[in-house]
Amino acid sequence: MTGTSIPGQHVVQELIQLRQQIARHDYLYHTLDSPVIPDVEYDKLFARLEQIENEYPQLITSDSPTQRVGSAPLTGFVQVIHEVPMMSLAKVFNATELDEFEARIKKRLDTHADIRYSCEPKVDGVAVSLLYEDGLLVRAATRGDGVTGEDITHNVRTLRDIPLRIGIGRSSDNPVAIPKRLEVRGEIYMTRSGFDAVNKEAEQSGSKSFVNPRNAAAGTLRQLDPKIAARRPLRMFCYSVGILELEEGATLPATLTDTFFLLEQWGLQVNPERATVTGSAECLAYADALLAKRATLDYEIDGAVIKVDRLQLQADLGFNARTPRWAMAYKFPAEEVSTTVKDVEFQVGRTGTITPVARLEPVFVGGVTVSNATLHNMAEIARLGLHIGDTVIIRRAGDVIPKVVKVVTEADADVTLIDVKMPQECPACGSAVEPDGDILFRCSGGLVCPAQRKEAIRHFCARGALDIEGLGDKLIEQLVETGLIRDVADVFHLQREQLHDLERMGEKSANNLLAAIDKSKSTTLPRFLYGLGIPEVGEATALALVSHFGSLERIMRADATTLEQVEDVGPIVAAHVEHFFANAENRVVIERLQTAGVHWRDEEVVAQSDILNRQIFVLTGTLEQMSRDEAKAQLQALGAKVAGSVSKKTTWVVAGPGAGSKLDKAQELEIPVMDEATFLAFLTEHNH
Ligand code: IVH
Repeated sequence: MTGTSIPGQHVVQELIQLRQQIARHDYLYHTLDSPVIPDVEYDKLFARLEQIENEYPQLITSDSPTQRVGSAPLTGFVQVIHEVPMMSLAKVFNATELDEFEARIKKRLDTHADIRYSCEPKVDGVAVSLLYEDGLLVRAATRGDGVTGEDITHNVRTLRDIPLRIGIGRSSDNPVAIPKRLEVRGEIYMTRSGFDAVNKEAEQSGSKSFVNPRNAAAGTLRQLDPKIAARRPLRMFCYSVGILELEEGATLPATLTDTFFLLEQWGLQVNPERATVTGSAECLAYADALLAKRATLDYEIDGAVIKVDRLQLQADLGFNARTPRWAMAYKFPAEEVSTTVKDVEFQVGRTGTITPVARLEPVFVGGVTVSNATLHNMAEIARLGLHIGDTVIIRRAGDVIPKVVKVVTEADADVTLIDVKMPQECPACGSAVEPDGDILFRCSGGLVCPAQRKEAIRHFCARGALDIEGLGDKLIEQLVETGLIRDVADVFHLQREQLHDLERMGEKSANNLLAAIDKSKSTTLPRFLYGLGIPEVGEATALALVSHFGSLERIMRADATTLEQVEDVGPIVAAHVEHFFANAENRVVIERLQTAGVHWRDEEVVAQSDILNRQIFVLTGTLEQMSRDEAKAQLQALGAKVAGSVSKKTTWVVAGPGAGSKLDKAQELEIPVMDEATFLAFLTEHNH
């Protein structure tokens, strides 16, 4: 006897209802793009269905939404012979060629009548065929060579915008007739946003990233284990029908436009950008409008596909060897081309980050001529294996800055390759270049570097720092561009006469500005320190440094090890602070600020030490007399910090029953531990 129990009628009914509800929400979400319930509600329905199926495994059917990742990994791919071959498309590149296409059609049909066309984006993905029998998805295959493809059903079943059973999920009071057999074709693609997310994850886990969304889609569909596809953001647009057998008596659609309408009724995705137009001129207008929209679409397209709309005319026109006579791809400019790297230069960003940029032999890509591409950072150069002199493939997708996707120089190519090295001095100001974390480099001339000038001044004058009212971005820009100020100290040397020549600067605003500048001179050390714009030194860190050291002189003298003693200051922050003050020019600017009258009172800024100031507590296990939140609040009220994990900086660990790894860690690091009773006594003692 197996332990399987027999489901009652109500369970079966609930199960059927759940499947219909889930299919309906999938349809609303994926096809109509207008979900009516939040994700958590959907997840609840799904969880309930899984629960019933777990209890009564005999009720699981292959079209249940729980069965998208149904099979174990395959050991190989099975070949599929297409009943109706999957053709490819002839291409045109301009209006004249498009007119010629229409002329050929009219000639063959021997007509002067207007021709209607169905136009759609040519989506850059993988062509596939789906076979539905009596509504059930029974097979999915790649196009392959058009005659023979590969069975990829296991992966395609995981796509949430492909129904496992067509026709259900739409409104139940308006049922649609299901075809006996439907073989529908379309393009499976990865969205641009999905692609970026997949690559980001690959980068984080150290695995290989994909070159473009099409490769990512193709690579995913070629996996033997469907779990991989289930995690990847793949989608499909259907664009043609190979086989359509309806119930007896039902009429077949007469046009492609009607066919798309039917496909939509069945819950399949068709491209919302499609349009039905008349004559080649309208086709061209469609293609131009689509090209203008290209960058805004969340998927890549490489052209427009133009098809004679009436199916009878398609049949009359027939095929050439590999392509139909009734369809044409109108190709857009390529988004990927190859070129050579003439040089690599380094740019200093407004916050001092130094970015390598490839200077390229100019090429036409994605509709524009490109002669530069960002290389992001030195790690990217290493990953690409890029040298000056290399031949590379560059890509310009949508409106993003072109980037180098890979190096294609042959190992034995007859070119001199030069290694790319980070300069030791900032190309903009000559200050020392320092590493910033593992990957980035930055200029240490924060206050003096012309590339960082505007940003440095903006930051120094902004709220939180010196807070100079009326000195906003626009004015700073004017002052810097007219050469009136070069660094933050110059702000305090501005003369009334100099302001007169500026745009929109009347007598009154000039007076107000000078008064605001004057007022700002009396400041506090944390504001001043924050205003210097040292990387990673925000308001809280500035305050912590001042509380610890008490004066600017002491902060400036401190080396990295001393700086690290400050709570919340780790090795990265410490290095930034040390480098900033090691830069002689930065020190000169600070001196000039002080001689211009910027001042603060040192004693004012040393924080009133709270009872438990600078003590770090970690709470673990269950507390019985009070909640953890309450304990935390009480500690914070006394000025202590409550951290989530134990480190050598931890002062105390409070451990209740059930404490685990944090307690072990405390013992390992020899950090004192209190039980709850001791803790309560401790609180009482300090509260008095
Ligand atoms: S129609 C007989 N429509 O372009 C008509 N194809 O070279 C066959 N493609 O392999 C294709 N978007 O992968 C058609 N809206 C679209 C398309 C499209 C992309 C691809 C498809 C095909 C290739 C044609």
